[in-house]
Amino acid sequence: MTASFIATGSPHALNRGVSSDHELERRKDAHIDLCLNEDVGSPGLATGLGGYTFEYDALPELSLGDVDLSVTLAGKKLSAPIVIGAMTGGTERARELNRRLAKAAEAHGLGMALGSQRAMISKAELTRTFVVKDVAPDLPLLFANVGAVQLNYGVTAKDVERAAKDVGADVVNFHLNALQEAIQPEGDTNFTGLTNKLRDAIAALSVPAFAKEVGAGIGARAAKKLASLPLAGLETAGVGGTSWAKVESFRAPDESPQAEVGRRLAGFGIPTARSIAICRKALGPNRAVVASGGIRTGMDIAVALALGADVGALARPLLEAANQSEELLSRAIETLIYELKVICFCAGAKDIASLKATPLVAPGQPFALDPNPGRGTP
Ligand SMILES: Cc1cc2nc3c(=O)[nH]c(=O)nc-3n(C[C@H](O)[C@H](O)[C@H](O)COP(=O)(O)O)c2cc1C
Repeated sequence: MTASFIATGSPHALNRGVSSDHELERRKDAHIDLCLNEDVGSPGLATGLGGYTFEYDALPELSLGDVDLSVTLAGKKLSAPIVIGAMTGGTERARELNRRLAKAAEAHGLGMALGSQRAMISKAELTRTFVVKDVAPDLPLLFANVGAVQLNYGVTAKDVERAAKDVGADVVNFHLNALQEAIQPEGDTNFTGLTNKLRDAIAALSVPAFAKEVGAGIGARAAKKLASLPLAGLETAGVGGTSWAKVESFRAPDESPQAEVGRRLAGFGIPTARSIAICRKALGPNRAVVASGGIRTGMDIAVALALGADVGALARPLLEAANQSEELLSRAIETLIYELKVICFCAGAKDIASLKATPLVAPGQPFALDPNPGRGTP
């Protein structure tokens, strides 16, 4: 059994005031603590994925063992349509978590995403807290991660390229987090001119780029602007899972407008099911859509795929498991994979392409919904 990382400190008082390298590191640990110990789920609004299921096929004419979950994402083959979502890096504790997550992703043939690499861009000695390829050399797909808004705060395309290269990443994921930055006490809130800056940065990179939200979702207006960029894919990070307005409200001073507004706007954004459909429509059939934001079960992933996603990504649940032990993390992933396999088997889908083409039904209703929202041409 590996050691648990359960937090002991009070995250509320951490990391207020101006941004600095040291503060950035403290913020990363505060985020981990808050996500492990506080109620940071988005209130009220759910992902919307629970509104769908598959028609059960009592006679599937398949053998469970023959069900093939493999998919290709960003040119890399994954054993199942699952990515460990972008979370962390920048501290020793984050390093250990990243290494646990990477080993599990490698063992199960999944993709893995690193958290924001801004810390290592401004402080090279923190690179080691993001490096995972030494413990997981056969990790099939690794996402680098940088905040898009940092392009307005001195980070250059060269910095991003180096950040990706230094960890051996296959793809760069630019995160978009306007709501989070607005609630964050030391947030970077100048998002002007970013579409063009992103366009230039993506063009200068030697690896493909994705863009993602962090829990407020990508709606139609953002999807249209993003689709005009040479991105290889989008990750929804929609409403229904971890709320970053809520996480940051815990870090804001108690009586501050940020703390109150973060609580009020904790569910502001685009629910994941809707965001999947929007991103698929905007990107057309040939670019990737990663479903994330409140993905918790194999059924969530299966429904997300039938709504138009290529894979599902989970963040906080896998952080919780990794924080407990490598064994728990492995079991959580095995359970997801087995659930997905059983769903395919019982929906009569021999592989992921067949599952994506299987009609969805509303729970409790025997008839297929027509059409599957988000599927098809833009
Ligand atoms: C502890 C933690 C740290 C995160 N840090 C980042 C980050 O640095 N960059 C990023 O793009 N997303 C980050 N996220 C957001 C996740 O990638 C994801 O979009 C969001 O949490 C919604 O997924 P979930 O409901 O499965 O947690 C973080 C999530 C968690 C739980």
